[in-house]
Amino acid sequence: MKETPKNLKKLSRFGISEGISELLLTTKNSPKDKRKANAAPIGITWKNDKMFLHLFKGSKTYENLTQKNYFAANMTDDAVLYATSAFYDLKNDDFRFIKITRKNKTISIPILKNANAATVFKCVKRLDAADSMIVHIKPVKFIPLKKRGAGILINRGFHSVIEVCVHLTRYELARDPMYIDEIRRRQTLIQRCGRKNDKKAFIILKKRLLEIEAENKKNEPLRPDGQTQESALSFFP
Ligand SMILES: Cc1cc2nc3c(=O)[nH]c(=O)nc-3n(C[C@H](O)[C@H](O)[C@H](O)COP(=O)(O)O)c2cc1C
Repeated sequence: MKETPKNLKKLSRFGISEGISELLLTTKNSPKDKRKANAAPIGITWKNDKMFLHLFKGSKTYENLTQKNYFAANMTDDAVLYATSAFYDLKNDDFRFIKITRKNKTISIPILKNANAATVFKCVKRLDAADSMIVHIKPVKFIPLKKRGAGILINRGFHSVIEVCVHLTRYELARDPMYIDEIRRRQTLIQRCGRKNDKKAFIILKKRLLEIEAENKKNEPLRPDGQTQESALSFFP
């Protein structure tokens, strides 16, 4: 679906550019859930005039977007929100609901209270694959939330936190030590170039790594000498 020139111009101010933009997607949970809403870092792909999500089965975002047609893409440079929402649940208090009207129907959509801006998208087509789903999307409403802070952030510490989140989600699935090497390289950058919040986010990610390592240990058979494998955590000071 071709975007209107007006929307294309606006999208860049809302953190969405050609290629893949990693934003925090907020979706409404089912009324049965304890938490009202969910947030997770997810890539919005914009290629050849098409905009879509590639969602892997097993996530709450996947579950919610099989049932709901609307979600918000939140733009923020808060590294703690990225690290927390990638591996844990945010608090109900981190969200607020906005209302939009579509074809005389009022729809409430969660957004992050602390985002700089949010864009509401509609899911227009879903294509199912074995372990994932492609969701074609279309921006329907732009919500500026903060007057300042909508500029481009060029901080290697912040971007390294995003990279660590990605490598850790992959390590969580594949348990391949190569991801630990990648994380270790980014740690140096976060400590050297990052802001206070980027360093705080890295502590959350280290905690998650500790939990994964504890799961690994529990499931791992003892070696013949009675020892377990060296923990990936021993690489981190
Ligand atoms: C920067 C970044 C981008 C991500 N992009 C995607 C994506 O496009 N599709 C996807 O299924 N998972 C993606 N993930 C992984 C999800 O964020 C991760 O599986 C998360 O735990 C899902 O949370 P949820 O269960 O609350 O939805 C990404 C993770 C990061 C850190």
